[in-house]
Amino acid sequence: MKLLSLKEKVVVVTGGAGLIGQCFVRGIAENGGIAVAADIDFDAAERLTRELGRDCPGRIEAARLDITSKDSICALISDTQKRHGRIDAVVNNAYPRNKNYGRKLEDVTYADFCENVDMHLGGYFLVAQQFCLAFKAQGGGNLVNMASIYATMTPRFEVYQGTPMTMPVEYAAIKSAIVQLTRYFAQYFKGTGIRVNCLSPGGILAGQPTAFLDAYNGHCASKGMLTPEDNLGALLFLLSDESKYMTGQNLLVDDGFSL
Ligand SMILES: NC(=O)c1ccc[n+]([C@@H]2O[C@H](COP(=O)([O-])OP(=O)(O)OC[C@H]3O[C@@H](n4cnc5c(N)ncnc54)[C@H](O)[C@@H]3O)[C@@H](O)[C@H]2O)c1
Repeated sequence: MKLLSLKEKVVVVTGGAGLIGQCFVRGIAENGGIAVAADIDFDAAERLTRELGRDCPGRIEAARLDITSKDSICALISDTQKRHGRIDAVVNNAYPRNKNYGRKLEDVTYADFCENVDMHLGGYFLVAQQFCLAFKAQGGGNLVNMASIYATMTPRFEVYQGTPMTMPVEYAAIKSAIVQLTRYFAQYFKGTGIRVNCLSPGGILAGQPTAFLDAYNGHCASKGMLTPEDNLGALLFLLSDESKYMTGQNLLVDDGFSL
């Protein structure tokens, strides 16, 4: 899907081997950019580099990254800058969670709550902090944080009824904080050539039970649950110069679910 030009822009996507990350790195490369799929699962990221056809205007590179480690983030920044001379943008998109993540409110322990907030929100902070310092030193850069509709809307618990799914309480805490971190960073780095925005998708199709899909889709304007590709236009817009005067904003792509 060719949308906006990212010609030769170097864009790091954390969690680049995941459900949404894969689509983003392909879309960046197909629109002329150099996408660095940076993931804790290096093998999965490496597989992506072999996928694109010869006629693709950009390319995908794989990198190993743990967003909860400052050393790992700094090594990624320094390797990427050595290879390309600069980094134009980073998409904070990884999704770390521990083995108990996704339990109902009553079953979430203090330790699990803290561990999930540490890994996800703490990791997003560390990526944002280290990349923005590198961006400042190189004279500018672009940070896109992945949040969610659940950063700003009240959960509709009824859509999960009759399924083992819920909207985890940690997720609400983490994603709402990511929207506010976005505004904080945008304000803090004003005047340095750095801009910072958020993308907030609604639910993404991934084999959810029919009962959930029916209930969810009933709140939407047309399609209902979306695919990663349905979010690509908004991501490419935020990465491109077409949005160069946007900073501190949160773009929702949810087919009206949150209205
Ligand atoms: N899937 C959805 O319905 C949905 C909806 C709204 C927002 N989001 C957000 O989009 C982003 C991506 O979600 P997804 O559904 O693609 O998740 P996913 O689980 O499919 O992929 C996440 C990727 O992050 C990687 N990862 C995990 N821990 C890491 C770490 N410590 N360091 C580096 N990489 C790590 C995983 O290996 C995986 O490849 C997340 O911020 C998520 O909250 C997802």
